[in-house]
Amino acid sequence: MLRKAGFHFTFEKGVTYLDHGGFGVTPAPVSKAQQKHRRRIEQNPKAFFTYDYPDIWHEVLAATAARFRVEKDNLTFVQNASDGINAVLQILDLGEKDEILTTNLTYGGIDIAAEATARKAGASIVRAQLPFPATSRAKAADYAGALEKSIGKRTKLVIIDHITSATGMVLPVREMVAACRKKNVPVLVDAAHVPGQVAFDIADINPDWYVANLHKWYFVPRSCGIMWTADKHFEKMRPTVMSWNTNDPSYALRFGWTGTRDVTGIMSVPDAFRFMDGYGEENVIRHNHELLTQAIGILSDAWKVKAQTPPAMYGSMTTLPLPAGLTKHFAADLAGCLKIQKILIREKKITASVPLAHKGRHYIRIAAQIYNSAADYKKLAKAVLSLAG
Ligand SMILES: Cc1ncc(COP(=O)(O)O)c(C=O)c1O
Repeated sequence: MLRKAGFHFTFEKGVTYLDHGGFGVTPAPVSKAQQKHRRRIEQNPKAFFTYDYPDIWHEVLAATAARFRVEKDNLTFVQNASDGINAVLQILDLGEKDEILTTNLTYGGIDIAAEATARKAGASIVRAQLPFPATSRAKAADYAGALEKSIGKRTKLVIIDHITSATGMVLPVREMVAACRKKNVPVLVDAAHVPGQVAFDIADINPDWYVANLHKWYFVPRSCGIMWTADKHFEKMRPTVMSWNTNDPSYALRFGWTGTRDVTGIMSVPDAFRFMDGYGEENVIRHNHELLTQAIGILSDAWKVKAQTPPAMYGSMTTLPLPAGLTKHFAADLAGCLKIQKILIREKKITASVPLAHKGRHYIRIAAQIYNSAADYKKLAKAVLSLAG
């Protein structure tokens, strides 16, 4: 646990929280700042939205662009990663037989959105098969090659996850994007879990779109996402909810007003930056990665299982098989996984995700955050063994 970090989070007493990636968790100082923003709005909502909010939106966007080292004109706020990715899906000009390429590791909600978009146009979805688990010999070229093999003449968009959801793998997106460039196909990087979990450089990755959440690992209150778009796509981009700004010449500003909504997430971005800076982003990332490595050791010893990913391919979140003994009591399918997850959360007071059944085993996803310590994973190890007996 980082210095005093436990005090900043308001979990229910007795709960061990090992799913930071699920929905993010807002630290108390940031929640307090958000309340202040809320009070400010309520003092005079008309005046606030008419005269104050437009400037706030620009200021916060400029600070966000500076922090993530991108041009402000290429960046905008979206509600969340799903919102940004749907905005891209809606501008695709798909014909019959065209294809959207996702992968076997794509986040389920995005895969469903891509499939629905394709189906509406009589197009189809193709899923590249990326290696999982990853061995210590896994190379970036294995992932780029597996993706490239699935890009066809009718591929109109490739969606790749920078950090995969159920399996927590940090994919070699730079090389995977390069494979798409070679085939001249637009590529969207779903980085829902990236800011705050691993360092990233959008210019180096060179995608067409890079869509991320700040409410997961960057301590911003739900919900707040960002979307970076390459200049060549500016003209077509529209928000998923069109309103007054929809015809604005600025790509970013078109997303600046999507109807009346809670804007306190965006207003709290500078407060979350301050919170992160109090610990230092690099320290947070290093702490979480090292703690996760320790957690993998504790759990794999206790459960007699192996890490699924080498350390270079995880950040602060990974997946592990649960002990084989659980398959005697729970079906080795998603329904079985959800039963285990509910027992852990409701009865054992351990919040973790059990998102995957694979090759006859249940998989648990664990996360490490500044409020966690080794004792949390020891508690999980014991609780799971008590279910496997
Ligand atoms: C890889 C990935 N993409 C997209 C999403 C969707 O994020 P949101 O619900 O904030 O839109 C998630 C959520 O966990 C995710 O893991």
